[in-house]
Amino acid sequence: MEDGGRSTQWRFAAPNPTLAAAGERSIQKALLQVHACLDERGPRPVIPLSHGDPSSAPSFRTAPEAEEALVAAVRSGEYNGYPTPATGLPARRAVAEYLSRDLPYMISHDDIFLTCGGSQAIETVMSVFGQAGVNILLPMPGYPKHEAHAVFHRMEVRHYNLLPERGWEVDLEAVEALADGNTVAIVITNPNNPCGSVYTYEHLAKVSIAFVQSLVTFFLILFVVIEVICLLPC
Ligand SMILES: Cc1ncc(COP(=O)(O)O)c(C=O)c1O
Repeated sequence: MEDGGRSTQWRFAAPNPTLAAAGERSIQKALLQVHACLDERGPRPVIPLSHGDPSSAPSFRTAPEAEEALVAAVRSGEYNGYPTPATGLPARRAVAEYLSRDLPYMISHDDIFLTCGGSQAIETVMSVFGQAGVNILLPMPGYPKHEAHAVFHRMEVRHYNLLPERGWEVDLEAVEALADGNTVAIVITNPNNPCGSVYTYEHLAKVSIAFVQSLVTFFLILFVVIEVICLLPC
């Protein structure tokens, strides 16, 4: 670019083909094609089955208590700056209490990390695991951001299938076959996107056991990342 006689050279990184391919895994193109064929003014109502955000439906209104708490927090003027560890403490305690309600033990607020949505959580977790030479197990079908961030953080992605005939449960044999000495984590999405399934406690336990057993021979420290998309009541 010419800038008053001086030329500016942009130093953007060269596109990463693996990352681009991971980002391509989306039904977006097919959806656009379907939408292009629709006449929304026609007599038949259009049901947006690909729309995952429930907030546009009247039955999914935020609870008035949550709205009022938010307004009160803004009006208090106490939270208009950068948060300190102490600012987040009441929220982390509340989440720990809520998640412990059906457990025989209490989850500590020290083990609760609040992020700006699921995307930041995925990014953070993948950056912790990411290094050259390791691999991570992801569900197929799955949520595209897992793969994009895994690839971005130099991990090899290995897919295990979800089985439609078993309510989209995890293919346990595939997990055992795929994991090896360089596997650092398995991602389980529950409730599942895009399949909509919710796993039983027993199934989650079986997945963990299959994963752990397949790695026992390698004496590895391993992680099971269960991405739980929670809508917490206030
Ligand atoms: C499995 C999964 N993880 C993460 C996200 C992203 O969450 P957020 O929009 O809170 O960043 C979504 C959103 O649909 C999701 O389905």
